[in-house]
Amino acid sequence: MRYLVTGVAGFIGSHIAEYLLPRADELVGIDTFTGNYSRVMKEQNLRKLRQAANFRLIETDLRFADLTDLLTGTDIVLHQAGIPGVRPSWGPGFVDYVEHNVLATQRLLEAARQVGVRRFVYASSSSVYGNAPSYPTSENTIPRPFSPYGVTKLAGEHLCGTYGRNWDVPTVALRYFTVYGPRQRPDMAFHRFIEAALGRTEIQLYGDGEQVRDFTHVDDVVRANLLATEVDLPPATVLNVAGGTRTTVNGVLALLTQIAEEPLQVTRTPEQAGDVSETWATCEQAERLLGWIPSVGLAEGLASQVEWHRQRMDSRPPVRRESARAGSVGAGRSAATTPESNG
Ligand code: NAD
Ligand code: UGA
Repeated sequence: MRYLVTGVAGFIGSHIAEYLLPRADELVGIDTFTGNYSRVMKEQNLRKLRQAANFRLIETDLRFADLTDLLTGTDIVLHQAGIPGVRPSWGPGFVDYVEHNVLATQRLLEAARQVGVRRFVYASSSSVYGNAPSYPTSENTIPRPFSPYGVTKLAGEHLCGTYGRNWDVPTVALRYFTVYGPRQRPDMAFHRFIEAALGRTEIQLYGDGEQVRDFTHVDDVVRANLLATEVDLPPATVLNVAGGTRTTVNGVLALLTQIAEEPLQVTRTPEQAGDVSETWATCEQAERLLGWIPSVGLAEGLASQVEWHRQRMDSRPPVRRESARAGSVGAGRSAATTPESNG
């Protein structure tokens, strides 16, 4: 079995690829190391994969590469590549979202159509829903994105649908809900909150913290992807993949205080454009079609991420660690200013 994972150096793609390694005769990973965060972090994500004899990294950009050539001989495509942040998707940067999330997806689907793959899994997003008229959202809820990012993820999903319905490309779009766990992207809430808690720097809370997310542990996302490659599904399937955790950001901060055993320094900043007030999904379809239900609770999952950050901090050179721990509020390190982050 030959698998192809796009966005393999990223948070979710690297976890999926690691899980697939023992099952794959050949595992090809594609990434172009976009600048949403540093190459150093992405290389760390690839560390285990690079040691495996059946893994091959192809550093190339899906917007320009000869994808028919790359896909020839591939059984399963897991398309995780994309520009993922909700809040930076306004303004001139939108062109990158269109190119990496829409155009790249269309090019990959076209190649999949020509080559004839057995399954094409697309990393969709809860952001397609926007602020929904009622909760929990099901796959039948009419999507109405609230951010430009969400518009591009929905466009990618619709492309999967059109290639599925016209050409029988066996597509399945998995709508992930705010994914967390070890190796989470440095712009995301848990990553920033935990680094700030352990480094005793300031947490920036957007709005009043009463926004709700159905946080999903990356292990559950990985399992959903694997099942989506194994189970018989009609083309153009769309499924929610949510953690069943439905918690406010304030609730997360309270939990983090207990787990990290560190007092948190929280500063309120304005609500961010594009942030929805709630995500909350029903995953009955994924249970029915994949036999998937989320298995990692928020306390357990958050603890696993805290542990990863602790190990990461301990492996940093002592000089930087000292300065980080000695930093006073506002002057210390934050996820946005670490050398690993491109800001
Ligand atoms: P990430 O930024 O860690 O990983 C994405 C990877 O894709 C990066 O390494 C990047 O270099 C690569 N990439 C981007 N454009 C590319 C291109 N044109 N060619 C080749 N490689 C390219 O992000 P992530 O959090 O792992 O998200 C993975 C996918 O899941 C994205 O499509 C995102 O929209 C989707 N998603 C993420 C979440 C979440 O909570 N993290 C939730 C819903 C959906
Ligand atoms: C996340 C991912 O970043 C997107 O790639 C993904 O598509 C989306 O989930 C999804 O579910 O589809 P988001 O929910 O904004 O987006 O995830 P976080 O960045 O972890 O933010 C969670 C909440 O914490 C948001 O309400 C945000 O406003 C808040 N937050 C974030 C803060 O209060 N402070 C921060 O420093 C960061």
